Amino acid sequence: MPSKNNSKPSLTDLPAFEALEDHYNLINQLNMRHLFATDEKRGEKYSIKHKSLLLDYSKNRIVDETIPLLCDLAREVNLESWRDRMFAGDKINNTENRAVLHTALRNETNQPIYVDGEDIMPKINATIDKMEVFANKIRKGTWKGFSNRTITDIVNIGIGGSDLGPKMVYNALKPYHHKNLTVHFVSNVDGAHIDDILEDIDPETTLFIVSSKTFTTQETITNAHIARKWLLKSDAKEQDVSKHFVAVSTNIEEATKFGIDADNMFEFWDWVGGRYSLWSAIGLSIVLSVGMENFKKMLSGAHSMDEHFKETPLEENMPVIMGLLGVWYNNFFGAESHGIFPYDHYLRDLTFYLEQADMESNGKSVDRNGKKVDYATGPIIWGTSGINGQHAFYQAIHQGTQMIPSDFIVSILTHSSHQDQHDIMMANALAQTEALMKGRTLDETYSDFVESKVKLENVEDRIHHMVFEGNNPTNTLLLTKLTPRSLGMLIALYEHKIFVQGIIWNLNSFDQWGVELGKKLTKNILAEFGQPDPVTNHDSSTNSLINYYKSVVYG
Ligand code: F6P
Repeated sequence: MPSKNNSKPSLTDLPAFEALEDHYNLINQLNMRHLFATDEKRGEKYSIKHKSLLLDYSKNRIVDETIPLLCDLAREVNLESWRDRMFAGDKINNTENRAVLHTALRNETNQPIYVDGEDIMPKINATIDKMEVFANKIRKGTWKGFSNRTITDIVNIGIGGSDLGPKMVYNALKPYHHKNLTVHFVSNVDGAHIDDILEDIDPETTLFIVSSKTFTTQETITNAHIARKWLLKSDAKEQDVSKHFVAVSTNIEEATKFGIDADNMFEFWDWVGGRYSLWSAIGLSIVLSVGMENFKKMLSGAHSMDEHFKETPLEENMPVIMGLLGVWYNNFFGAESHGIFPYDHYLRDLTFYLEQADMESNGKSVDRNGKKVDYATGPIIWGTSGINGQHAFYQAIHQGTQMIPSDFIVSILTHSSHQDQHDIMMANALAQTEALMKGRTLDETYSDFVESKVKLENVEDRIHHMVFEGNNPTNTLLLTKLTPRSLGMLIALYEHKIFVQGIIWNLNSFDQWGVELGKKLTKNILAEFGQPDPVTNHDSSTNSLINYYKSVVYG
């Protein structure tokens, strides 16, 4: 067995980490309420604006020394050099020997970027052009289905990075949708998912996009075959399949085997990670719906965040600050999770998208050299649309025993015509971050009772339940308006935040070996379902569950 060659000191041995430990011991009891009371410029001081995006990080448990100390840590792990290596196309995904270049997909400058000596910009541009030509045909109705009707429904078949990104963006950009085209997303291998969609659409007017980086993902390929059969059950013939199926993949060979012809393939490359791929041809469903012009605006927004990340000093760099604050809570305060709460109905899928982006990237317990880490890495990312969360789990954030740092994401201008409702939502978001920071003392709670003229009988029994300790950290991210450009910025902000954290934790944030074992065991178990005899080769729990399933389904 090879030995784990890692002479690098652990994160926790670095002088900057030790300085942060001392700093934590000094300030961890400080209350933000006090910090706000003694510095009336705190809100302004701890804010960063980039274009139409404002980050207010003042409601965090930090003082003036904290960010510089965290930046010392970032410098000690060579964050800036790693960042530059990523943008330059170095193969920083060391376990797969791949470059990490989703940023090239939005490289507006068109300056050459080299992978293995080849400038990749021409092929990126060629794919964009191909997507545009195809999307125009669908959007203008000149692409016809087998019965000469125009396409009205697009079904993106994909999972993980080939589903979550496009779906999140599609929902986020609802006001920009083509009026006569609806996009559906099938990911689950549970036949109920695809059935639900097929029930509502017509084979004559449907286009399927089979989206899979590898083109080997069982869920996607199974759903694609079901869709193909469904099409052929109508009056469509084998030769009509090309009018209704296109593929997006890095694996042209497998896509060809499936029966997709070359004209209907949209390529991307192994230097685009699945969970970073919505900027590539994986975004085809987005382009079909919102048009290439809007897609390019989204790329442009992301590019402007790339430039901010590259050019801005660490202390004023939005993704760096967000990443470092996460490290502060994870590694010093022991926070185990991080909440994402969008106060925008159209951003309702952002949390699901970020669950994969963050946890598949940094949910790792060996460092980039294969050595087991002795510190916490990626937190659990969770949440839902903020307003709904308030009436579900915010109780635990306000009064539970776990610290849950969280991001509140709000659009200032709404696309809806109901300004009064938007005011209510905005007020809720701001009230929550204020309440989480300030809390409510025992005396204040008592005064509230008196003021509200509630009968004070048995107040002693109840009052402690109504006290809020506060001091809960939040970031507030304000978008002037949710547009393709600001959305691009927002997504790129989180991508870079995740990158920053991966570098601090010395992880390879771009592989995902943790998904492999389950896939392998699935194959074994699936094969056993077809065997007549009861299985005995697993642990007793898995054996009896398999046998029980077999007995109910196959008798
Ligand atoms: O199993 C996890 C994963 O490999 C993700 O990383 C990826 O986004 C998803 O599956 C889908 O993979 P593909 O695009 O190759 O079908």
